[in-house]
Amino acid sequence: MEKMKHIIESLPNETGWSLYQPYCLYQGFWCFPDFLEGIMLAQECFKPEPGDIFICSHPKSGTTWLKALTFAIINRHRYHFDDSSNPLLSKGPHDCVFFLEQRKFIGKFRQPGVPLIATHTPYSSLPKSVLDSDDCKIVYICRDPKDTFVSLFHFIDKRRPKHIEPVSIEQGFELFCEGKSIFGPIWDHILGYWKASLERPNKVMFLKYEDMRKDSALYVKKLGEFMGYSFSAEEQHNVTLQKIVELCSFENLRGLEVNKTGVQVNRIVPHPVANQDYFRKGKVGDWSNYLTPEMAQRLDKIMERKFYGSGLTF
Ligand code: A3P
Repeated sequence: MEKMKHIIESLPNETGWSLYQPYCLYQGFWCFPDFLEGIMLAQECFKPEPGDIFICSHPKSGTTWLKALTFAIINRHRYHFDDSSNPLLSKGPHDCVFFLEQRKFIGKFRQPGVPLIATHTPYSSLPKSVLDSDDCKIVYICRDPKDTFVSLFHFIDKRRPKHIEPVSIEQGFELFCEGKSIFGPIWDHILGYWKASLERPNKVMFLKYEDMRKDSALYVKKLGEFMGYSFSAEEQHNVTLQKIVELCSFENLRGLEVNKTGVQVNRIVPHPVANQDYFRKGKVGDWSNYLTPEMAQRLDKIMERKFYGSGLTF
């Protein structure tokens, strides 16, 4: 731990966003020291178990939704959808599936009996044991970076300690476009997983938030197949797929008491996070309410340039 602290202290850091900690540049991405300790620990000693599934994302791309969906899919024979014993009804999705980075705060990498582990860590910085393993799978969700930025901006502003000056949307946008945001640059984050999904399609599944919003049932089916929890013909014909979609829908999860008034029990940062902070609007294209056409065009252009030749578009 001391060795890690020394390394972290020596890294370049930024205070641009109004965050509770400056964030630092490690292996080409920006990260909170608190997260980084968890990542370094995982890089050093995480051992995957056969059947592990990694839920990967850039922050504010739909992590909470993907955690809920994957949890509901793999546990569909264990818990009834409307049974009060279903953990998704009494816990926030982040207390059903832990983050790899949380090890520092909760003393363990995984939720006992749940083969799902979430992470915001870029692909190339995942523990080598995970990259080398043929037994574990990776599901990545990405989202139009304009919506990701708007979501991130609101999340950070909501969580800003009141004694810290707010960052304007223009300042935040500038930092985001320079790649200086948590787990940014976002283009490197997305491209890392995109390329991996092309090279290792059986190991890495690449999903887009927007596609999943359009036809959620189709993606529930695809997720089940990819993770090794395929839906039987009968399940596909009856209401199972639809029940999972409804259980994990933005409206349903946001309306649950635990997500209206509860606090994330298994912390990811030293300060408590209210579950409701993970549910804002859940809309595709909300960026148009916050970004000027010039800002949108600038970010689109950056993405086009960075993704040029990769086959990836938004
Ligand atoms: P908005 O801020 O645009 O509303 P993450 O889970 O990676 O932190 O991403 C949070 C974003 O996902 C927020 O976007 C949030 O509202 C949205 N979200 C949370 N739960 C969702 C769900 N069940 N379905 C769709 N979107 C969801």
